[in-house]
Amino acid sequence: MDDTKDFGTPKKVTDKTVSLTIDGMNVTVPEGTSIMRAAAEAGLSIPKLCATDSLDPFGSCRLCLVEIEGRRGYPASCTTPVAEGINVKTETPKLEDLRRGVMELYISDHPLDCLTCATNGDCELQDMAGRVGLREVRYGYEGENHLDSIKDETNPYFTFDPSKCIVCSRCVRACEEVQGTFALTIDGRGFESKVSAGNKDFLDSECVSCGACVQACPTATLIEKSIIEQGTPDRKVTTTCAYCGVGCSFDAEIQGDQVVRMSPNINGGANKGHSCVKGRFAWGYTTHKDRITTPMIRKSIKDPWQQVSWEDAISYAASEIKRIQKKYGVNSVGSISSSRCTNEEVWVVQKLTRAGFGNNNIDTCARVCHSPTGYGLKQTLGESAGTQEFDSVMKSDVIMVIGANPTDGHPVFASQMKRRLRQGAKLIIVDPREIDLVNNSVHIKADYHLKLKPGTNVATINALSHVIVTEGLLDEAFIKARCEKEDFDLWREFISQDKNSPDSLEEEIGIPAETIRQAARLFASEPNGAIYYGLGVTEHSQGSTMVMAIANLAMATGNIGREGVGVNPLRGQNNVQGSCDMGSFPHEFPGYRHVSDDITRKTFEDAWGAKLQGEPGLRIPNMLDEAISGTFKALYCEGEDIAQSDPNTQHVTHALESMECVIVQDLFLNETAMYAHVFLPGSSFLEKNGTFTNAERRISPVRKVMKPKNGYEDWEITQLLSNALGYPMNYKHASEIMDEVAKLTPTFKGVSFKKLDELGSIQWPCNDKAPQGTPTMHIDEFVRGKGKFFITEYVPTSEKVNAKFPLIMTTGRILSQYNVGAQTRRTKNVAWHKEDLVEIHPHDAEERGINEGDWVGITSRAGETVLRALITERVQPGVVYTTFHHPESGANVITTDNSDWATNCPEFKVTAVQVSKVSQLSGWQKNYKDFSKKQINFAKESAAKIN
Ligand code: SF4
Ligand code: SF4
Ligand code: SF4
Ligand code: FES
Repeated sequence: MDDTKDFGTPKKVTDKTVSLTIDGMNVTVPEGTSIMRAAAEAGLSIPKLCATDSLDPFGSCRLCLVEIEGRRGYPASCTTPVAEGINVKTETPKLEDLRRGVMELYISDHPLDCLTCATNGDCELQDMAGRVGLREVRYGYEGENHLDSIKDETNPYFTFDPSKCIVCSRCVRACEEVQGTFALTIDGRGFESKVSAGNKDFLDSECVSCGACVQACPTATLIEKSIIEQGTPDRKVTTTCAYCGVGCSFDAEIQGDQVVRMSPNINGGANKGHSCVKGRFAWGYTTHKDRITTPMIRKSIKDPWQQVSWEDAISYAASEIKRIQKKYGVNSVGSISSSRCTNEEVWVVQKLTRAGFGNNNIDTCARVCHSPTGYGLKQTLGESAGTQEFDSVMKSDVIMVIGANPTDGHPVFASQMKRRLRQGAKLIIVDPREIDLVNNSVHIKADYHLKLKPGTNVATINALSHVIVTEGLLDEAFIKARCEKEDFDLWREFISQDKNSPDSLEEEIGIPAETIRQAARLFASEPNGAIYYGLGVTEHSQGSTMVMAIANLAMATGNIGREGVGVNPLRGQNNVQGSCDMGSFPHEFPGYRHVSDDITRKTFEDAWGAKLQGEPGLRIPNMLDEAISGTFKALYCEGEDIAQSDPNTQHVTHALESMECVIVQDLFLNETAMYAHVFLPGSSFLEKNGTFTNAERRISPVRKVMKPKNGYEDWEITQLLSNALGYPMNYKHASEIMDEVAKLTPTFKGVSFKKLDELGSIQWPCNDKAPQGTPTMHIDEFVRGKGKFFITEYVPTSEKVNAKFPLIMTTGRILSQYNVGAQTRRTKNVAWHKEDLVEIHPHDAEERGINEGDWVGITSRAGETVLRALITERVQPGVVYTTFHHPESGANVITTDNSDWATNCPEFKVTAVQVSKVSQLSGWQKNYKDFSKKQINFAKESAAKIN
C-alpha cells in the first residue's frame, strides 16, 4: 500500500471486517472504515476536499457523494461507514453533475490566479476542479464574494489569504485534533462563515505556529512564505530534526541546492506527520550570515583571528595538543562532545580522546542535563534509557508529569499526550510552576497540580510512595515476581517511616497532605500509570536519587514492562540519548560499560589498536577545576557551548582563559569560541550523514541534503585531527562508523544504515533477539534481571534561602527557542521571544516595587545579572523563573556550582536569589558586551583580510 497516499479518513483498527462492493469490485475492510477509505484502499479515488486521512471526517464540502443501491439520496462517502453487502457506485452521470455543481460554486468565489499562484500544481482545489471536469463557471464575479478579503501576514513563516479559503475546516480540525491548541474557529454562518484565529491576527493569537493547519489546507489560503518566495520543491530527502529529543522525521524539500520547506514525514515513528515551529520552520540558521565556514587560529584570545586553510588549522591544533601533552602529561587534554552531534560524530570524538589522546577525558553536555537519568535507571532497572515508545502514552490511564514542560520542551509528544488526555486519561503534574498542561483551556485540566517548593522533589515522591505503601496500594504480585526481595523489603520499611508521610512533609514541600494522598491513590489505582519527567527532576543536588525514586514508584505500582506505563525521561536535545549511548562519559565505553572492565577494554583495545586507560577520566566540572588549578591545558569542544550552558559562567570562562589551547568546532562563533585558539567550522544537520537517537531510543537517519558549506562533515574534521595526531582513522562514510558501533556495542548489533533505510528508524536494543528493535523494554524481566529498589533519603539542598537571598530561582525553556539559542536566535523565531525575562509573583513584585517590564537585578551567591520583569501567578510566591536562551541574559552567571551527588549534574533548578529594581546592566553584562563585541570584530576582521 502507498503510505504517502491520502486515504481521506483515518485507518480503523479492529479484527472485525466488512465486505461490500464498490464500482463492481469486492472490497473487505475493517468495520467502521468510511466508504471513501474503502474505495481508496481498493485503488479507487473519490473526489474530496474537506477530508484527509490525518483528520476525522467532517462532511462539509459535499464533493465525495456516492450512490448506494437501495438507499435514498447521495451520502458523503467520507462520513458514511461501510456496511455488509452494500453496493456502492462512485461514478455516475448524476454524481458527476452534482460534483461539478459543487465545484462551480467554490470556483465562482475563488481568485482565478492559478498560473501565478504559489501552489500552482500543488493545490487540491485545482486538482479537484480538473478531476470533476469543471470547464466553465456560469456565475459571474460581480455578485457577493470574498475576493477582497485582507491577507494576514503576521506569522513569520506562513500567510493566511482568506480570499482563497473554501471554509473546509481542515485547518480548524488540524489545530484541534493534531496539535491540540484550538487556536482556530469558523466564525459566522453560511456565506459569512470564515476562519478566525480568535478574532486576532495569527501572531497575537493562541497559535503556536506548528504548521499543522498549513499542511492540512487544500488551497493556497494557508501557505509557507518560503514557498511563495522560492517556489515549489523539485525533490526531497528524508532526515531528522536537529532540535529536541522528540526526534521528528522530516522530508527536506529542495529546489536546486536550497531547502524550500521542511515537511514532517507522515511515516516518522516519533511524529507521524506532525511537527513544531522549530523543526518545520526554524532552519534558516543553517544559511545565516553569522556562520563561519573558514578555519581560524590565533595564539592568544587577545589576538585577532587569522583565517587559514584546513591543513594549517588541523596541523596547528594537533601540534598544540602534542606540545601540551609533552609538557604537562597525557591527561592534560580532553574533549567535550555534544548531544547536537550525530551518533557517528560522538563516536569518533570519544575514540579520538581514548585512543588518540590516550585518556578518558571525554564528557558531554548530558553531564548538565540527563546524567542522573543514566545513573538512576541503570541502577534500578539495568538500562540507562526510557522504557517506552511515545505511542505508549495512548494506552495510559493516568499520566504523571514531573519537572517537565512538554508543550514547550517536547511539543510534538505533548500533542500526542494531549490527545490521550482528551480521551479521558487522568493527569498529575508535579512542578513548582503552572505549566501549560495544568490548565490547557477547557480541553485539558490536570487532576492534581502538586505545586511543590523547588528542591523538594525527593520528599514529594517519598510522600507519594508512602501513601501507596501504607494504604496497601502496592502491586504485590509484580514486586514478588519481578523485583529483588531484600531491597524491596528495606525500601518498604524505609518509605513507611513517619518521616516520609505526607503529614510530616507537607510544610517542607508546600503541598497539603490530603492532596498528596489523593494524587497517590489516583496514580496507584488506574490500570496503566506512566511517568514522564524532565530536567526538573535531574538538575538538582539529588537528581540521581529522584530518578531512582521514580523507578521505585513505577515498580511499586507494577507500571513497567508493557504499553501505557513506564519511566520516560523527556530528553532535551536531539541526541542526548545517543551521545550517552556512544560512550561520551569519562567512566564508560559505548553501551554503558565501565572503563575498568578488563574484558570490555580489551575488546576496544583490539578493535582500535591502542592501549586504553582503565581509570575514568575527567568530567566537565573537573576539567574546569583542573584548568584553573593549572593541570588541564587543552580542550577539543565540538558542538557544545559551555560558556553559556554550564553553571557559574564566571568560573567556566576563567577556566577557558586558563587553558593554552581551546579548539572549538561549531557553526557559529559561540560564547565558548570567544575563548578559543582554534576555530574549526562545523556543518549543519542538513549537510551531513549520520543518525540521532531520540528519547524513546529511536535511532533515526540524518541524511545529507546539501554539500557542507565548510567543506567537511563534522566526523571528517575529527578524523583529520586524529590523523594529524598520529592516530589513524580511515572512514569513507558515516555508515562505516555505524558499522563499527554495531560491531562493538551489543545493543546496536543489528543497526546499519541499510536497515535504517529499510525500516525508517529503529529503537535499540536491536540485536539477534530483537532484529526489528525494541519499542518497550523490560517486558518479562528487567535488563538487570530483577528490578532493584533503592533507599531514597531526602536530603534538603544546601542552597538555602535567607534574609539576603530570600527567593528561589528556577530555570526552563520556551517553545520558540532552543537551549542556548545559538540556532533559534538566528531564525525568525525571535518574533516570539526577543529576550529572556524573569517571572515573578505579583506579591513578591509588589513588595519590591517592581512593575511589569522593569529592569530587575537578580543576585545570587555566584553573581548578578539584570533582566526585565514579567509579573505572573504562574510562579508561586517565593519563586522566580527565567529562561537562558540569550547569552547576554547571563542566567548562568547566577547559578551555582552545586551539583548532583552521583553525577555532578548542576543544580540549575534551585538558586537562592534576591531580586530588586535597578536602572542599569550588571557589571558582568557590561563586561560581556565589550568582550563579545571585540571577539566578533576579531572574526570579522580576519574575514575582511581574506576577502
Ligand atoms: S484556510 Fe484552508 S484549510 Fe482552512 S478552511 Fe480555508 S481552505 Fe480549508
Ligand atoms: S499553526 Fe498550529 S497552532 Fe497555529 S493555528 Fe495552525 S495548527 Fe493551530
Ligand atoms: S518536537 Fe522537537 S524534534 Fe519535533 S519538530 Fe519540534 S523541535 Fe523538532
Ligand atoms: S470530502 Fe466528504 S464531504 Fe468533503
